[in-house]
Amino acid sequence: MTTIHDESTPSSCNHHQGNDKSAHASCGHEHCNHGNPLHQVKNIIAVASGKGGVGKSTFAVNLAIALAQTGSKVGLIDADLYGPSIPTMFGLLDAKPEVAGKNLVPLEKYGVKLMSIGFLIEMDTAVIWRGPMASNAIKQFISEVDWQELDYLIFDLPPGTGDIQITIAQTIPLTGAIIVTTPQDVAIADVSKAVSMFRKVKVPILGVVENMSYYELPDGTKDYIFGHHGGEIFAKTQGLAFLGSVPIDRAVREGGDNGTPYMLSHPDSATSKAINQAAMEVARRISITEAENAVKQS
Ligand SMILES: Nc1ncnc2c1ncn2[C@@H]1O[C@H](COP(=O)(O)OP(=O)(O)OP(=O)(O)O)[C@@H](O)[C@H]1O
Ligand SMILES: [Mg+2]
Repeated sequence: MTTIHDESTPSSCNHHQGNDKSAHASCGHEHCNHGNPLHQVKNIIAVASGKGGVGKSTFAVNLAIALAQTGSKVGLIDADLYGPSIPTMFGLLDAKPEVAGKNLVPLEKYGVKLMSIGFLIEMDTAVIWRGPMASNAIKQFISEVDWQELDYLIFDLPPGTGDIQITIAQTIPLTGAIIVTTPQDVAIADVSKAVSMFRKVKVPILGVVENMSYYELPDGTKDYIFGHHGGEIFAKTQGLAFLGSVPIDRAVREGGDNGTPYMLSHPDSATSKAINQAAMEVARRISITEAENAVKQS
């Protein structure tokens, strides 16, 4: 028989670690919400890569737009405290979130709710927090921001597998992680570390996106600047889903710099279609996982 969880029940209940019934599989409690500041968030996705500069933020932004365009409620957390990109990529360099009671109200643009350290401090101020302070700041983005109901909350992770990534992977009930890589060997080596980190903490990996796959020359031929199909081969050897290839496109870079996400400025291009296809595959994989969990719990 299941019992309703209350504050006095033993700490063996892992209700802080999940917002669905599976979080209560071992304790037998019915689904409860208290203690979980993200109980109104259905799915939490981390966009990650062990490697810097491969296009995590670019993909996270365009993924958020693609999901929002399906009518889903979407939030995006810039977890890169030392090099936030989201204010620039959304054209919100001078924006400041409002405060409501004890909470911050996320900014909202293009149908996506946003939070970044860049909204709270001047963008040219260096954050010099050490690990524990940085981890606390990330926790505050969750517990002290009024996200309300969301279908997807996306974390744009910083490069590497340091304190912030580990805090997120271990303490946030992630639905899954998306791994972004370029095709080159030097990126793949670092990306393997991110994959192994998520596996260690049992966060499902939703798939691999290969960014900067090639550059299309004016005569239509493809120049595989960073190598050929490295991301796809990596996904295969790791037994992971391959979510697609995104080419190098000047307009993608321009969209990031001028605050108009590429998916919005070039909705019908082949590159937007590739990003959209990857986003829809992520949504499909999440629905399958949800359905499987529902069957397990019934
Ligand atoms: N497909 C692409 N075509 C052209 N430019 C791209 C593409 N993807 C990303 N870029 C550009 O490459 C640079 C790095 O991208 P981005 O900031 O998204 O990477 P990142 O992995 O988030 O970096 P960091 O590790 O610093 O957080 C940016 O200037 C971005 O505009
Ligand atoms: Mg980034």
